[in-house]
Amino acid sequence: MIQPINDAVAYVRSKTKTAPHIGVVLGSGLGSVVDSVKTETVIPYGEIPGAKAATVIGHSGQMVIGTIGNVPIVILSGRMHFYEGYEMTEVMLLSRVIGRLGIKKLVVTNAAGGINTSYKPGDLMIISDHINMMGANPLRGPNIDDLGLRFPDMTEAYPEDLRKIAREVGKKLGLKLQEGVYLALSGPTYETPAEIRAFRTLGADAVGMSTVPEVVAMAHMNIPVLGISCITNMAAGVLKQKLHHQEVMDTTQRVAKDFTALVVGILERLA
Ligand code: HPA
Repeated sequence: MIQPINDAVAYVRSKTKTAPHIGVVLGSGLGSVVDSVKTETVIPYGEIPGAKAATVIGHSGQMVIGTIGNVPIVILSGRMHFYEGYEMTEVMLLSRVIGRLGIKKLVVTNAAGGINTSYKPGDLMIISDHINMMGANPLRGPNIDDLGLRFPDMTEAYPEDLRKIAREVGKKLGLKLQEGVYLALSGPTYETPAEIRAFRTLGADAVGMSTVPEVVAMAHMNIPVLGISCITNMAAGVLKQKLHHQEVMDTTQRVAKDFTALVVGILERLA
């Protein structure tokens, strides 16, 4: 149904005159990009019809509209996750809303576990592609024809031209960026070591509990995506230590400066 999306879009439009060109989704602990925005409007998710307040530690749960450089942007600072119990339509709602606000590109970020053993915590990874193992396709159900086709193509969900820009910005900043495949699960458990070994043989480089719904929503709407993962920890079984959300938070905090410089640099180039 397009109506709930249109209602949310109408609410956002009533709060801002800015027509954003670029959208950004900030993942766990990665909210500091917001500090670089010349903010025009902040809308807590709880105010937007159909959207839910964020519940995860490290997620702020607000839509920030403003400019970086001269580029009008909209930032989703915090996201809704499938593991929180939301339906996929709820998880995709705000991405669809900013899609309908007219963004031409989306930069999506997340915290992820490193499956590729050449990675280390603190690495930043350009997402080259994804494997959806969330157990559900976000577009299951009646197609919303106003948004896109019944059978969207996923061949270029993460187009090379955007990844090239990310590589160039990374190089300029002196950051060594990884590039790899993001595998998404529903969570909220972390994975078992056996699952991680299996995912490695499947070609996954990083694992997380988000992003795929937003990217699928964008592919449906024909909006190109650039994805950046912050490798916050090595995935289960890679190291002889247990996984904890605190490590995720600690690592995002440690790399916040580089991560923000990368994302802001990319946004300036995408203008
Ligand atoms: N697994 C799943 N999701 C994650 C991880 C992980 O190791 N790290 C951060 N998000």
